[in-house]
Amino acid sequence: MDLVKEIQRLKKEKNAVILAHYYQVPEIQDIADYVGDSLGLSQKAAETDADIIVFAGVHFMAETAKILNPGKTVVLPDLDAGCSLADSCPPDEFEKFTKAHPDHIVITYVNCSAEIKALTDIVCTSSNALKIVNSIPKDQPIIFAPDRNLGQYIINETGREMLLWDGSCIVHEAFSMEKLLDLHKKYPDYKIIAHPESETHILNTATYIGSTSGMIDYVRQHQDEKFIVATEAGILHKMKEEMPNTELVPAPAKEDNTCACSECHFMKMNTFQKLHDCLLNESPQVDVDEAIRERALLPIQRMLDLSK
Ligand code: 13P
Ligand code: SF4
Repeated sequence: MDLVKEIQRLKKEKNAVILAHYYQVPEIQDIADYVGDSLGLSQKAAETDADIIVFAGVHFMAETAKILNPGKTVVLPDLDAGCSLADSCPPDEFEKFTKAHPDHIVITYVNCSAEIKALTDIVCTSSNALKIVNSIPKDQPIIFAPDRNLGQYIINETGREMLLWDGSCIVHEAFSMEKLLDLHKKYPDYKIIAHPESETHILNTATYIGSTSGMIDYVRQHQDEKFIVATEAGILHKMKEEMPNTELVPAPAKEDNTCACSECHFMKMNTFQKLHDCLLNESPQVDVDEAIRERALLPIQRMLDLSK
């Protein structure tokens, strides 16, 4: 069976849209109607008139699409495609933490569960985090969760004190400073660009720090330069496709894995076959309890309104 043709046929027949993150395998990115960062994907999910949203990303992303579209079917190629960052913030413990600091406004990074979003005042993504934090009055104390690295980056950039939850992304914490410096010695004219989920010592080496879309935009605007790219290696597909003449090297991970770079095994659980199957079977679906959905919608909507 020609899976490409079959996916296209099913998409038309079922009025489905395929939304994919830049960390997905190349063939999924290539067939998607839209490939983007977390903000772009939630904006697309908010405005789609499709009946079925096939979310080629991880669970919290599909869940956000469902929160925005309770009447639509949202499918995820592999329901086990989770996120270490989302998992690092259990709702019971987080609720205790917020209750211990009732005067604090709660800002959470979109990489968290619907239950955490339901305990949140305003959501942010890596592309609008500085803007969202800067929109809060200066004398207002803030809790930021779950990513301590993004939180520390925001503190350094804005000068705001924030109480940080101690969560992190296993992929962005896998970069090896020693190997990165060795690589930079080998390629001294390459500039380092990094995602803010990376640790501070990695970010300190970077010429540009931003979301996946921000990193792609930066390379697009500097196509004559050469780059070491410190984020999940899937992003290189879009960069190489759009900027085939720009020299790009993925930042090295601490432990050697198959490609000696950082890959998110959650993102890679989605395969092209599973993408086809979930569209065909309209399963597995992502659902959110209605009471939680209603509470989680408000902080997402606040973020979308502030990001127009
Ligand atoms: P962005 O694509 O929004 O930068 O997020 C990166 C990420 O880790 C998604 O899980
Ligand atoms: Fe989660 Fe990190 Fe994978 Fe993104 S790259 S989905 S933050 S584990």
